[in-house]
Amino acid sequence: MKDTNFLKKNNARHLWHPMAHPADSLANPPDIIVGAEGVEIVDVDGHRSVDAVGGLWNVNLGYSCAPVKQAIADQLDKLPYYSIFRGTSNDAVIELSWMLKEFFEPDGLTRAFFTSGGSDSVEVSLRLARQYHKLRGAAGRVKFLSFKKGYHGTHTLGASVNGNANFRAAYEPLMPGCYHIPAPYTYRNPFNETDPAKLAQLCLAALEDEIGFQGAETIAAFIMEPILGAGGVIPPHESLMPGVREICSKHGILLIADEVITAFGRTGSWTGSRHWGVQPDLLCSAKAITNGYFPFGAVMVSGAVAEVFEGDMSGKGAIGSGYTYSGHPVGAAAAIACLRETERLQVKDNAAARGAQLFRGLQTLMQKHEMVGDIRGGHGLMCALELVSERASKAPADKKTIGRVHRATYENGAMIRVSGNNIILSPPLVVTEGDVDRILAALDIGLAAAA
Ligand SMILES: Cc1ncc(COP(=O)(O)O)c(C=O)c1O
Repeated sequence: MKDTNFLKKNNARHLWHPMAHPADSLANPPDIIVGAEGVEIVDVDGHRSVDAVGGLWNVNLGYSCAPVKQAIADQLDKLPYYSIFRGTSNDAVIELSWMLKEFFEPDGLTRAFFTSGGSDSVEVSLRLARQYHKLRGAAGRVKFLSFKKGYHGTHTLGASVNGNANFRAAYEPLMPGCYHIPAPYTYRNPFNETDPAKLAQLCLAALEDEIGFQGAETIAAFIMEPILGAGGVIPPHESLMPGVREICSKHGILLIADEVITAFGRTGSWTGSRHWGVQPDLLCSAKAITNGYFPFGAVMVSGAVAEVFEGDMSGKGAIGSGYTYSGHPVGAAAAIACLRETERLQVKDNAAARGAQLFRGLQTLMQKHEMVGDIRGGHGLMCALELVSERASKAPADKKTIGRVHRATYENGAMIRVSGNNIILSPPLVVTEGDVDRILAALDIGLAAAA
């Protein structure tokens, strides 16, 4: 391994960082993370901090999950790769598909289609939705609906249903036929409605209106995160997702739950859909499926959708999607071990308890720091603080101020994620009460330092 001087000198010089401006990465070199243990990360200078980002919403079991590491090592020795394209399979992926069927049974999902990550899962789910309608003789159903503020990865179809301009504008024109519904975002919305239940009804009415305008017979699917995540952690009122389910069913539109961050316990329930008592038609997963240790994902398919594909005798049910790394045996082995550990530890319960503690702590910080305009959370370990320069006007805090919060919080022991004027917190689901206190204490200092 090269020494510290080499790493610092070459930091960001020969690589472009995702979701970053290359010039900004050169001007403000990224923190170089060289180690991790438990729920802590260690940088090149030996500075340790609690990882309140949880990798990128994926390291749910922390960095020292021995069973997953061992499963990866063992599988590399046994079968490091083989494709599962037509005609071959592997033992790990068969076992995993059985385990996922059991895990997602309460969500009504019975089949898995494997991918290399979240964006792939989204892309595949949207493609399968169109194919499903073609198989049923409704070839005109090609459009997609989604929420503004939704994040669905960065492939072109995913970016087209994405509800944040940041991930769209530079890459336009995107796919035609994708339309957006106002988000259930009480802090800012076009209806000027702060009551979550009323806002949910207004969003549902907007959805009905758009379906009427487009024509239900032209719409393939509605894709949504059960709790909007990367768009700033926006938990909806409990009536929203059931309302979307009802409207979709009424109009023959498939409901795709994008659970790339919410599957496997983050919301305090095993899935975000289950959290709201909804069964989707398709579910996108990735990230925590291997605890982030191997790039892997799965689209889960409901029994009813599966029947349409499996009952097809025309040949049109053949799936023309797939990746070299779909069903990778090392990823599958990692996922098997991860799922066992996830269930053994019942991490959803800790996510609920520690999430409540974190949200309570943020409420106290909001009382103390004028800069905090809104806090969101209350459903497991996903919370956000929205920073403003003035509470009355809700003008977003400027980049420099937010940068100072980030730096001071990091220096005081917690890694947090900045997204626009939001600070997003999504620590591993195995954090202790003491870890959450450390995150809150570091944030308190970070907010005070930037005031
Ligand atoms: C809800 C959601 N969908 C899709 C994605 C894309 O996943 P990936 O970055 O693994 O491609 C993400 C990533 O954060 C996500 O949060």
